[in-house]
Amino acid sequence: MNYVIGLDIGTSGIKALLLSDEGKVVGGVTTEHSPVFSGNGYVEQDPAVWWDGTVAAINLLLKEHEHVRPDVAAICCSGQMHSSVFLDKNLNVIRPAILWNDVRTSAQVSAINEGCGGRANAVKYVYNPVLEGFTLPKIIWLRDNEPENFRRVSKVIMPKDYINFLLTGNVFTDYSDAAGTAALDVRNRRWSADMARAAGLSEDIWPEAVESAQIVGRLKKEAAALLGLPESVVVAAGGADNSCGGIGNGMIAPGQAVVSVGTSGTVIAFLDGIGGEVTGDIHLFNYSYPKSYYAMGCMLSAGQCVNWLKNNIIKDISFADINKLAAESGPGAGGVVFLPYLFGERCPYPDANARGVFFGLSGSTTDGDLARAVMEGVAFGLADMYKLVERQVKITQLRVTGGGAKSAVWGQIIADILGREMNILSIEEGAAFGSALIGAVSGGLFPSFEAACAKCVEISKTITPNPATAETYARIHKTFSGLYQANKALFAENNWERK
Ligand code: XUL
Repeated sequence: MNYVIGLDIGTSGIKALLLSDEGKVVGGVTTEHSPVFSGNGYVEQDPAVWWDGTVAAINLLLKEHEHVRPDVAAICCSGQMHSSVFLDKNLNVIRPAILWNDVRTSAQVSAINEGCGGRANAVKYVYNPVLEGFTLPKIIWLRDNEPENFRRVSKVIMPKDYINFLLTGNVFTDYSDAAGTAALDVRNRRWSADMARAAGLSEDIWPEAVESAQIVGRLKKEAAALLGLPESVVVAAGGADNSCGGIGNGMIAPGQAVVSVGTSGTVIAFLDGIGGEVTGDIHLFNYSYPKSYYAMGCMLSAGQCVNWLKNNIIKDISFADINKLAAESGPGAGGVVFLPYLFGERCPYPDANARGVFFGLSGSTTDGDLARAVMEGVAFGLADMYKLVERQVKITQLRVTGGGAKSAVWGQIIADILGREMNILSIEEGAAFGSALIGAVSGGLFPSFEAACAKCVEISKTITPNPATAETYARIHKTFSGLYQANKALFAENNWERK
């Protein structure tokens, strides 16, 4: 039997899965880490943390399955998107990576847009707006604020590319991560000369981009020794976490879409091409399925909102109890409405100043109302993005994944607010599972993405929306949207963190 290791280089941990050529996940391990939030919208992480976590996760995984070591054929990583790893000419890390949810780069976004002759041109060059979290403005931030460090930069890569580099010694990225830089001509799959000119940055700063399933090397000696694996193991380019998550949810044909509730929340849908007018209100990125694309809305705080509630508001409580309390509160959360923009927002409102709001608190508001309002607020945000994605492509099959899918109450809230039937898969490992499937194709365990998905992806449960909640949620959705509009200017005024 042959095996593949699928990894996800996440914001809060490394996940490693072992998949067999029989389509079974025979093991899984997660190691934890956290980013450094230092205020002012800054979120950073030392890339060494990812490598240490990767080595630890693979070793833990294989400790439980010693006998498979000689039969591991491939490794493939997915990773947090946009986060910038700055490498010097000897390919050493210069400073901590600036992460996807860091919003320090507003001035640089404006400058890039100006360099393009306006936002509309930027969207024309890279099929996406330039947003604070994307990689390109982070490089310009470095140029503006840490010129010493900037002068040393020879390449900028993303987290999973850094792990691939330490595994193989080779520096590559794949199109799905390249798309999140705001420097790739997404439709034509090449670094955008127009954007490079507008930002005043040489295209050489980027590595060669390839398809996700392309092999970028074999394990180098030191890595093989650290991991106890043969040097024959191939490493696939892998992809962005949302892209790999799509593959892990069997999204390989038009009409298919996935809602994901992780730290961030996303709605993604398969595209076989980019047509029509591109407005930049959702992302259009290259996909890990060969030569295809996906439309995506991404909200910055989804699962993160429940974590925040648990750590700061309703303390000393388990997630199971939060779910129980939220279920007891019931649709409408006792009149409490929550805006989930804890770290600013990206979609549907590209607004780094937006912040969280609890609205409608009363003397009888309970912890359960707060918990439910948070879940409903995230679901309204998902529904806003779903609507935008559906403008791009008709969705006929929807799957839900991530923490939101693991909670029965939250899954139902999402189905009710979207008003859509959603399927949950038997393997709920999203991005790490998707990267295992991609690696399985690269390593020859399966002949194609279709064969891999047919063997490994299975629906375990369907959530059907409850029509009795439709009216309540439609009414609250209006309040939810009105709240953002009413507070938009105040958010900008009040944002003391950024002043
Ligand atoms: C997507 C995005 C997030 C990160 C989370 O554009 O920024 O989903 O990829 O890891």
